[in-house]
Amino acid sequence: AAIEKGGYDHFMLKEIIEQPQAIFDSMRGRLDLDKLTITLSGIEQYAEQICKANRIVIVSCGTSWHAGLVAEYLIEELCRINVEVEYASEFRYRNPIVNEGDVILAISQSGETADTLVALENAKSKGAIILGVVNVVGSSIARLSHAGAYTHAGPEIGVASTKAFTAQLTVLELIAIKIAHIKKTIDEQQYAHLLKELSAVPDKVQTILDTQLPKIREIARKYKDARDFLYLGRGYNFPIALEGALKLKEITYIHAEGYPAAEMKHGPIALVDENLPVVFVATKDRYHEKIVSNIQEVKARKGRIIAVITEGDEVSKGLAEDYIEIPDADEIVAPILSVIPLQLLSYYMGVERNQDVDKPRNLAKSVTVE
Ligand code: G6P
Repeated sequence: AAIEKGGYDHFMLKEIIEQPQAIFDSMRGRLDLDKLTITLSGIEQYAEQICKANRIVIVSCGTSWHAGLVAEYLIEELCRINVEVEYASEFRYRNPIVNEGDVILAISQSGETADTLVALENAKSKGAIILGVVNVVGSSIARLSHAGAYTHAGPEIGVASTKAFTAQLTVLELIAIKIAHIKKTIDEQQYAHLLKELSAVPDKVQTILDTQLPKIREIARKYKDARDFLYLGRGYNFPIALEGALKLKEITYIHAEGYPAAEMKHGPIALVDENLPVVFVATKDRYHEKIVSNIQEVKARKGRIIAVITEGDEVSKGLAEDYIEIPDADEIVAPILSVIPLQLLSYYMGVERNQDVDKPRNLAKSVTVE
């Protein structure tokens, strides 16, 4: 059947709004909160190799590469396995070190990205185990993988990835928690806590969609003529800062840069003046105090602060010119929530600027040539 916009102006908005369902579908039949189990048959088949791996190499492109960066933080933290995140285009050409039994994790919405596919073929021929986190069933990358776990985001039509990204994060969370549980690098109490936090995500995303849209639209109107944007985050929210900047470039053609918040001192802070909007992804986590001082540093230089914050965070509210509140969550699952306002901000700014948000110029949904 033809895929319709279902009453929405654009596929991008429809797909943003579908995220509670896409995230739920990616956990359905896998996460059982009553029995406290995660079932991922493909991954379980290779659990032994994963647990004893010296490192996991994640290979992907674009938004999927940002999901890979979140997975690096997750897997290292929970499973205590060293992770490297590679751009497929770089990995395939630089004669990388791949040994028999190495675990390579591919992340791809389409399953057809040429650079990712060839990087995996090369690694496979050297004896690596290829695991896939792919959205399109039966796609080339899914077929090439030894095993994997599909994301169940459904078809994604908007060129800029939204629901496929949060579905990827969901599946990567499941994989990391599952492996950590098998490896006993987390205890039973932490395991149960993480399962509970992950299960609560779809409702929390729904809360953002139900309460923050008018506010985000207003912020989009206010900043739509800015020439540059800076996005800053720390920890699990650092890859989300990168993803927020990428979404803005794709949809509005406004130049944007994502950076680790503390690293801004080594360059981007030179750009800060009364004309520069700086988006802080500053939810309550172990880095909160640190990022609040980064916000103060930008404020002292008259930057215009837009902050994504945990609801009720009065300190950040007091510092920001504009803020978007999201529900409280464990920092491990926070990126799935904090990216939602950034997707919407780009969407509404693109609409305000009369851009073709579903089909931005020069971009392709899947890059099947290098
Ligand atoms: C293109 C798309 C992006 C996507 C990237 C990787 O650039 O426009 O949205 O993130 O390819 O695609 P994949 O299908 O491998 O996730």
